[in-house]
Amino acid sequence: MILSSTHRPNRVLVATSDLHVGKTTLEQVLAMRAEIETGVARDGLIVEALLVLGDIGESLRDIELCLGALSGLAPVQAVVVGNHDLFDTERLGSSLTRYGNILPQRIAALGWIWGEGAPIIVPGSSTAIVMTPAWRDPSRLPTGELVRLKDRTALLAELPDGKWITPDLRDDALADEQLKRFNNALGQVNPTCDHLVIASHFPMFQELVRSDGPVTAADLFFYSPRFGEGLLNYLSQMNNRPGKITAVSGHLHAPANFNISGPLNGNPTAITLQALSIDSKYGQPGYTILPGS
Ligand SMILES: [Fe+2]
Repeated sequence: MILSSTHRPNRVLVATSDLHVGKTTLEQVLAMRAEIETGVARDGLIVEALLVLGDIGESLRDIELCLGALSGLAPVQAVVVGNHDLFDTERLGSSLTRYGNILPQRIAALGWIWGEGAPIIVPGSSTAIVMTPAWRDPSRLPTGELVRLKDRTALLAELPDGKWITPDLRDDALADEQLKRFNNALGQVNPTCDHLVIASHFPMFQELVRSDGPVTAADLFFYSPRFGEGLLNYLSQMNNRPGKITAVSGHLHAPANFNISGPLNGNPTAITLQALSIDSKYGQPGYTILPGS
């Protein structure tokens, strides 16, 4: 009997986020690694890929230490950055230089994949992984808020990390750029793959931020609706679709797990995907295990 790739329940992906080395100690990250390794050995699992979803460390050195502490857990190791990773704490130039030059080089030098770009395919697996920071996106702020915050200084002052992100990094421009890369990567996904994993730092769906009540301006700094809408619209137009679709994200430091249906705009082709938020706290880093191929 030939078993299809869907009959390999012991293959898994591990996603972690918001490790914040510098606030969280390296020993606490190593303890998380040991817990993962113990569980994997106990349950006879094979980790196909390790995904680190941003807010890795509070300095470049902390980022390198954190990824070094996790290296070797899986044959494929990929990372996207979060907002903390772009803090210009060492005053090396700017947040944008850090994002565009410094971090891609340092992360590649450590042997990790810079996750933005083409879908990541684990060799021998039928899982496709598309990664993006899904940068927070103020373009959907209510008009009144946009008028109030149109001055960049006022916008930065509203953000808890505004004093650490240098002014050359504009949230709206970065979200636009990343959205283009994200859509491009989705266009390269093999529609017959068994499992499509979308992995981001910022959440893409309102449900993860707030499950009831109207969306506030503050909420819109914590999730990126255009990424989620683009994903649902893209999937609705596929003739063949991946068997399972999971969107996993960080940033919120709180657990969430929703079935998301869409898209909007009256399209009759309903899509359902599972959206998860990783429960990670300062001093108590968290992770989630997803089915692999
Ligand atoms: Fe974050």
